[in-house]
Amino acid sequence: MKALTLRRPDDWHVHLRDGAALAAVAPFTAARFARAIVMPNLNPPVATTAAALAYRTRIRAALPAALQFEPLMTLYLTDGTPVEEISRAKAAGGVLGCKLYPAGATTHSDAGVRDVRRLDAVFEHMAETGLVLQVHGEVTDPAVDIFEREARFIDTVLEPLAARHPRLRIVLEHISTRAAVDFVLGARAGVAATVTPQHLLMNRNALFAGGLRPHHYCLPVLKAEQDRAAVLAAVLRGSPRLFLGTDSAPHARAAKETACGCAGIFSAHAGIELYAEVFAAAGALEKLEPFASHYGADFYGLPRNAGTITLVPEPWEVPPEYPFGSAPLVPLRAGECIAWRLEP
Ligand code: NCD
Ligand code: ZN
Repeated sequence: MKALTLRRPDDWHVHLRDGAALAAVAPFTAARFARAIVMPNLNPPVATTAAALAYRTRIRAALPAALQFEPLMTLYLTDGTPVEEISRAKAAGGVLGCKLYPAGATTHSDAGVRDVRRLDAVFEHMAETGLVLQVHGEVTDPAVDIFEREARFIDTVLEPLAARHPRLRIVLEHISTRAAVDFVLGARAGVAATVTPQHLLMNRNALFAGGLRPHHYCLPVLKAEQDRAAVLAAVLRGSPRLFLGTDSAPHARAAKETACGCAGIFSAHAGIELYAEVFAAAGALEKLEPFASHYGADFYGLPRNAGTITLVPEPWEVPPEYPFGSAPLVPLRAGECIAWRLEP
């Protein structure tokens, strides 16, 4: 196998955190991707245009000027998001959409939405102004099996929402099931999904391989092999509705390796290399570029990037940890090999 040069990709779903953590992880993303949608689940959440623009300034300040990188922002929807906030976001520019976290679904989602119906006026204004709705697609009812939460959300919340707002563009984030693939590929125009490396590479056995593996715990949780295979097959067939979103979600080692560990897998250190591994293993490397560098930009109505990156098939060993402010961070594949390397 030889080197692969592709149009510079974008990461349509990443968590960069804030403060010292931001400074520690953002360079990994900026070294690979030209742009990224930076998730707004800080504490307190990035729920206003003013907060998003201030966060964007902090992200830019945390990066060396030599790294050309554009943070794209999204607003955290709450039960109280006013319709006027959508107008402000549109007028400001740089805010591409709004993120729907069902309250309690994941890390820092307590301020999220309890009843999506109450936001119908907001969704309608988003459709009018062209802002995209990014969705964490899981129900939070503790009575629903954790492996069923995505499928249940699609049936009970997302499908009706997409029907109520036929012009609203929607991205179902980090899909993990056959049900999600079927929904997205069969949906009306304007519905798409992001796919993470972990949901392509691993099934739920990886959570329990030889013991409990907190660094493989994310939300949506890894699913059964049939689900992984269905997501992978759809990505390999290639669809403009399926594009790259790492969901790289760093937590300090101590927050993962504890009695009640946080959800989130850090993958930004190999945010394109892990996908190259997936596509190469399937003999479909030519499908990587459209997935990583074309479909997302096209969906968001942005130009494809001008530059390129080059990946070489040279295995490298991932360090056991990276600095993360005052605490260490354990990356995906810590102490193990990744088959592709980014050429500096
Ligand atoms: C994310 C985080 O840590 O912010 N965690 C995760 O498991 N993916 C939140 C999210 O995207 O659900
Ligand atoms: Zn996420």
